[in-house]
Amino acid sequence: MHTVSIKQRVRESFDKAAVTYDGAAVVQRRVCDRLLQELAEPEPFPARVLDAGCGTGYGSGQLRKRWAAAHITGIDFAPSMLALARKETDCCQAADIEKLPFAEACFDLWWSSLSIQWCNAATVFSEAVRVLRPGGQIAFSTLCPDTFAELRAAFAGVDQHRHTLPFDEPDAINAALAGAGLRDIRLIRERHTIYYPELKSLLRSIKAIGAQNVGEGGRSGMMGRAAWQKVEAAYERFRTPAGLPASYDVLLGYARK
Ligand SMILES: C[S@@+](CC[C@H](N)C(=O)[O-])C[C@H]1O[C@@H](n2cnc3c(N)ncnc32)[C@H](O)[C@@H]1O
Repeated sequence: MHTVSIKQRVRESFDKAAVTYDGAAVVQRRVCDRLLQELAEPEPFPARVLDAGCGTGYGSGQLRKRWAAAHITGIDFAPSMLALARKETDCCQAADIEKLPFAEACFDLWWSSLSIQWCNAATVFSEAVRVLRPGGQIAFSTLCPDTFAELRAAFAGVDQHRHTLPFDEPDAINAALAGAGLRDIRLIRERHTIYYPELKSLLRSIKAIGAQNVGEGGRSGMMGRAAWQKVEAAYERFRTPAGLPASYDVLLGYARK
């Protein structure tokens, strides 16, 4: 019951953010491009592709550029995101990555960029395996525990709330992939940093993407002025000539059924 309500909140945040998403999704674009760059050319070409958690469809559009003849299906649980993804996909459907509404073995490539960090990795990968044909590929990006380390450090000692998702370690992702029966697993961990002039714009941009939900233990009310000033001052310690950094600890993953 509790899990369902967290998922609903995550979905509502993304649903509200659809119109602002593309303007703020700088790292998300970069990661999507990297995921495609590192994807070894599948043999034969992937005729049936699933973009799981397609958002506004940027990844689907890039996949289409690489394989013009592929049939691309986008799924996302946020209807407003899907409305924008429609133009980049051949068909799209509101659905949960953890419970796919597709038959066994109907995709050649299961793709997902920066969407599974809100999900249970073992459930996601076993669903991916179910809908992939034997020999089919999966390609995904997700976030590891050093993501937003500056934010966690700035809030440390100011309150007891959770300020980021409980990101999985690469070892846990590797175990979930192997546990789902996937082979030829290849993981690449890399850091992507984006800079903001001030903390307010950094937090505003996370909200514009819809990614502000951190699951259980997150703050529900407003923050007091004194506490906010403390956090701002603590974050200033990380300032560089480029601005205030927000680090993304990214994992690119590839495997075969
Ligand atoms: C950060 S966005 C990434 C969107 C897109 N893949 C991109 O690279 O721009 C995460 C997306 O995953 C979707 N999402 C998160 N959890 C999901 C779930 N359990 N089922 C379906 N979609 C989900 C959100 O609605 C959102 O559109």
